[in-house]
Amino acid sequence: MYVKIIGDTSIKDFTFESNNRIKFGEYVLAKNIDNDDILAVVKDVKLTNEKFICTAKVIGTLKDNKIEINKSPISPECGVKLCDDKILNKIFYVQRGLNIGSIVSRKNIRVYLDTNKLVSRHFAILSVTGGGKSNTVAVLCKEFGKKNGSVVILDPHGEYATLYHEELEKKVKAIHPTINPAILSPEELADIIGLGNNDKEINKKRVFLEYAYHTIKKEFPGLSGMDFIEKLGELLYEWVKLAEVGWEIKYYHPLKRKYDMRKTGEDDFINLVSLYDKVSKFKEDFSLNIGNKDIIEEFEIGKINVVNLSGLEIHQMITFVSYIAKNLLSKRILYIKSLRDLNHPNEMIKTNAIKNLNNIETHYKIATKPVVLIVEEAHIFIPINENTSASLWLGKIAREGRKFGVGLGLVSQRPKQLHPDVLSQTNTKIILRIVEPEDQKYIQRASEELGEDLVKDLASLGIGEAIVVGIAIPLPSIVKIDRFDGIYGGKDIDIVGEWMGMNW
Ligand SMILES: Nc1ncnc2c1ncn2[C@@H]1O[C@H](COP(=O)(O)OP(=O)(O)OP(=O)(O)O)[C@@H](O)[C@H]1O
Ligand SMILES: [Mg+2]
Repeated sequence: MYVKIIGDTSIKDFTFESNNRIKFGEYVLAKNIDNDDILAVVKDVKLTNEKFICTAKVIGTLKDNKIEINKSPISPECGVKLCDDKILNKIFYVQRGLNIGSIVSRKNIRVYLDTNKLVSRHFAILSVTGGGKSNTVAVLCKEFGKKNGSVVILDPHGEYATLYHEELEKKVKAIHPTINPAILSPEELADIIGLGNNDKEINKKRVFLEYAYHTIKKEFPGLSGMDFIEKLGELLYEWVKLAEVGWEIKYYHPLKRKYDMRKTGEDDFINLVSLYDKVSKFKEDFSLNIGNKDIIEEFEIGKINVVNLSGLEIHQMITFVSYIAKNLLSKRILYIKSLRDLNHPNEMIKTNAIKNLNNIETHYKIATKPVVLIVEEAHIFIPINENTSASLWLGKIAREGRKFGVGLGLVSQRPKQLHPDVLSQTNTKIILRIVEPEDQKYIQRASEELGEDLVKDLASLGIGEAIVVGIAIPLPSIVKIDRFDGIYGGKDIDIVGEWMGMNW
């Protein structure tokens, strides 16, 4: 191959002329003036007088298959050659990595993502609709599955409920989301039924809810699920009637371990009516989602746990997502802290740690191993202009999850509607086709490694082709994600086939 560097060179780029065809995205080797090997990628190819004029962007110096920052200009006299497959294979290979696809310019070079870095530093999968996000999630799940990974997918469209691959045999668990109010703390129950906690009147309602909660627990110790909520509603109704005429209510005080009486005024009547309404609305709204088994108890380690949120209203989905995110993080924190406290010299702390560990082992097994939470349609839960209860907890996972082995994966077709703080906390970005310049700019602001040149490539990506940047990939690259060779529900529908009743 005849190749010659032409024009000026710099630390960052150079131009060369070749009589052989060179593809966009191809990897080439050159030398800098210190005679270091330089790895570069072809960013533009023009054809002039039957010669290919290629602009290459320097990736870095190559030493022992590791890339380092280049500090010297490219030597104008050096030859340029295609980078060997062997070298590229070594660069892109990551031990215990996730094998997601191949380099676009060379289909035989496999690309791996560093599993630990992807999970602990979080990731985002972004594209226009139909760009290949769900396919990417399915491929990642297959790879997580090979590593016995614990995954929870929050799935608003019920796309993954039928996720199937022979390598995921018995590893996918589709879950109908249910909450068991009887295992919640009174505070959690207050959150779930939608009693914020920021004003005085709400605090009064929270106090009444706590009274009622402890009273029902005392009087009907075995009650759970819908029966618990119904009894709670009945008791609150009795209290409403008593407060209407200013009579005392009787409730159980768990700290004093006895019943107490409390006078009621007009104010209390109003708060009790409003609380009763909240509980009734919750009962009605979540009638299909209040159960004896709590969703967190359903999650299993080493499985792809798919939470099918389809059919729920948006506010209900948000409630579930917030509940799940909160529990995954807080139970993992408690688990790790309790493990540490097992060696604590203080007996009380030690006993408490054993109690917590037993409780987690029995009810929240998912928290005993690191876990990845993948959120489809993430813009619903972490919107840019609003603070939902889900954004609070997903944001916490994004900021603190790393230390406790809780990873977050955001999937969205509307990147600019995602909250920028949370998006920028996702270190690895898998960006499939994005056409809209506003979306492109928005993503660029949220990712350190997404340079101008890569942004330009975004609109021209084909289906399943992704720019992958961040800590989990050895170098920013354009990757053809494998087509998932199993089943998931998001694939394009054969519209004409269905209209014409063709099953062949
Ligand atoms: N890597 C790939 N290789 C080949 N085909 C792909 C690839 N990724 C996706 N496709 C095809 O493109 C179609 C859409 O893919 P997918 O469902 O993953 O898109 P999406 O980005 O999740 O869309 P939406 O935003 O609507 O959820 C599917 O029919 C799928 O078969
Ligand atoms: Mg999808």
